[in-house]
Amino acid sequence: MNPAQIKAPLFLVCLLPLAYYLRGAWTDTLGEDPIDALTRGLGGWALAFLLLTLTLTPLRKHTAWAWLARLRRMIGLYAFFYASAHMASYLGLDQQFDWLAIIADVVKRPFMVAGMLGFALLLPLAITSNDLALRKLGGRRWQKLHRSVYLVGLLAVLHYSWMVKAEVAKPVACALLLAILLGWRLWWRVREGRRIIATGAARKPARRVILLTVRK
Ligand code: HEM
Repeated sequence: MNPAQIKAPLFLVCLLPLAYYLRGAWTDTLGEDPIDALTRGLGGWALAFLLLTLTLTPLRKHTAWAWLARLRRMIGLYAFFYASAHMASYLGLDQQFDWLAIIADVVKRPFMVAGMLGFALLLPLAITSNDLALRKLGGRRWQKLHRSVYLVGLLAVLHYSWMVKAEVAKPVACALLLAILLGWRLWWRVREGRRIIATGAARKPARRVILLTVRK
């Protein structure tokens, strides 16, 4: 599969939820409380894209679909895009940037702190998602920084589960999926660690570096 061929159509498909809510706002078909529907809908899609981003690596490792790695950045940026739109809808449309009212609301509904923390951690990931930032930070530091996406996932699920009072099925499903995705990473790291110890694979690149240095 050539990732270049699916990137453009996928980019458009990822805009469909936004188009749905814009159309709903335009035609006034979002229900009794359209602003709440918009804020919740965009938040739901932010979480969906976040979980999808975390699903791509396990899926790639267990299939021969190496091209999935080339989609991760775009899907991750869509998570950031929908989280930004979700926050903008809340701050701008719901609260009309009345900061005192926002503070009072956060005190009343502390689940929002988890969302804000999640967004604050997502922002540097979006800013450094380009090749220039990767080169400047260096692979190791970049990877270390981008591991905070796991914490973003935890905060987003906490934000959602904390908010819901009656219909717990969806937040429980999201928490379960996140637990599986994070658990898989832990299992994979242990497995890779064991494999490296068993085959001595970790020492091979080091030896090559020494040989190259000596030859120079
Ligand atoms: C990583 C960032 C975030 C994610 C993934 C996220 C996700 C979500 C989800 C899934 C919901 C529930 C939607 C539903 O009921 O179906 C929600 C609700 C909500 N979120 Fe977030 N959120 C994030 C950040 C924020 C931030 C930064 C704020 C505030 C500044 C915020 C404010 C809210 C509010 C007010 C609601 C409830 C809407 C209502 O019913 O009044 N969220 N969010």
